[in-house]
Amino acid sequence: MAQEDIFKKLVAHCKEYGYVFQSSEIYDGLGAVYDYGQMGVELKNNIKKYWWDSMVKLHENVVGLDSAIFMHPTIWKASGHVDAFNDPLIDNKDSKKRYRADVLIEDQLAKYEEKMNKEVKKAAKRFGESFDEKQFRETNPRVLANQEKWNNLHTRFSDALNDNDLAELKKIIEDEGIVCPISGSRNWTDVRQFNLMFSTEMGSTAEGASKIFLRPETAQGIFVNYLNVQKTGRMKIPFGIAQIGKAFRNEIVARQFIFRMREFEQMEMQFFVRPGTELDWFEKWKTTRMKWHRALGFGDDNYRFHEHEKLAHYANAAVDVEYKFPFGFKEVEGIHSRTDFDLSQHEEYSGKKIRYYDPELGESYVPFVVETSIGVDRMFLQVVSASYCEDQLEKDTRVVLKLPPVLAPVKLAVMPLVKKDGLPEKAREIIDDLKFDFNCQYDEKDSIGKRYRRQDAIGTPFCVTVDHQTNEDNTVTIRYRDTMQQERVAIADLGKIIGEAVSYKGLFGRL
Ligand code: GAP
Repeated sequence: MAQEDIFKKLVAHCKEYGYVFQSSEIYDGLGAVYDYGQMGVELKNNIKKYWWDSMVKLHENVVGLDSAIFMHPTIWKASGHVDAFNDPLIDNKDSKKRYRADVLIEDQLAKYEEKMNKEVKKAAKRFGESFDEKQFRETNPRVLANQEKWNNLHTRFSDALNDNDLAELKKIIEDEGIVCPISGSRNWTDVRQFNLMFSTEMGSTAEGASKIFLRPETAQGIFVNYLNVQKTGRMKIPFGIAQIGKAFRNEIVARQFIFRMREFEQMEMQFFVRPGTELDWFEKWKTTRMKWHRALGFGDDNYRFHEHEKLAHYANAAVDVEYKFPFGFKEVEGIHSRTDFDLSQHEEYSGKKIRYYDPELGESYVPFVVETSIGVDRMFLQVVSASYCEDQLEKDTRVVLKLPPVLAPVKLAVMPLVKKDGLPEKAREIIDDLKFDFNCQYDEKDSIGKRYRRQDAIGTPFCVTVDHQTNEDNTVTIRYRDTMQQERVAIADLGKIIGEAVSYKGLFGRL
């Protein structure tokens, strides 16, 4: 099945089983804003716990913070967001649709890549085992022609971004013959910058109110609390501050479900280091973060690093962790070496000294910062896309979310075989015993087969069935979601079996 079709099914599945709903749906929805349902909120909380504990519990020198969304407006002037947090936009005059110029060009680059990959795939099929992909890529005229087009476009694009050359971005779009997907025309306006921050007013009267911004990243809340945390926590450099919270961006091109939203959540960690050591720490955090992703077992080849074409105004090194979504490799997390830019700017704008006295060096300095920044929602999309499966069985197909058990919203479903003979009471007893450790669901409706399918669809790793034998010997059948195998176990052993499979400790062991 085409990847696009799978993605459509995944979106429908997320709605049908209470993972993600369109915001304000009964009013026809609000663009690029989503709500998490009864299953979604559990999965989201589990993802956040995985991140939080891996940062704060596993690193002695990383502590947490929960700063407010509203902050002093000067913060956004100091951080550069008022002047430079822009997207280059272009409108198609015929369809009146608005696009991000950089995204149109990135899509064009992806088209060249796709063409090359198609050639490689075809040849691999033709030549079978003897196929040498490297040699083919270096010699096949069609691949070489597309590679040259890719290289030229890539260089022009990077230069235009680095020079902030909006006229050149438009020229690239024209030269490449990029058309509007809606009207099919090349009738484009000039490219212009558009600031992504939402603003609102704080204060009770129009005259007394001041304009404030909804934060577009959580990081600034960490920077402006650097001194508070360092002093009260008696933190020694190197140390980190981690935070999870909402961020808001007026995204113009909002698409691919929860991939790009206007209200979303970030998990960010700022790691404060001695100047000159930041690039070593940047490499260390790259390795640590990649391990964190891969530990979930979605396949090492589905991840890659992507170097930035253009460094943000605050960075001296930057890389994205990309995951292979059904719509291609896309950014899930950014890792940036942000230099001393933010703290120095806040020193200047606030007039307060933001320094660290380094007892080993006997001097004070503004610390440098390495940041890891991941979107909760994008991570959620990664997890559900990697887990969604349509298993072909003998007679039919089963849809199953093969979520890592530790992240699954419901860990076990307990089901009486029939609604009589004391079996429901026994099932309830099991739940009452296990519910303090695991999220359990009780289900007595429909046939056992239908109940299994319902649990497969929401990703429950264990189904426990209570039958007449249970009343005699206190054993139950446990059915494993991925293999569908069943075995008879003692009720007394359930806690241990399930506990081992869903423990964060097991996951952390892979880091
Ligand atoms: N503090 C640095 C920063 O915010 P970013 O690359 O703009 O860097 C970091 O964002 C992460 O936040 C991204 O890798 C992505 O996972 C998530 N993110 C950014 N914009 C988003 C959006 N509009 N919708 C969902 N997630 C988003």
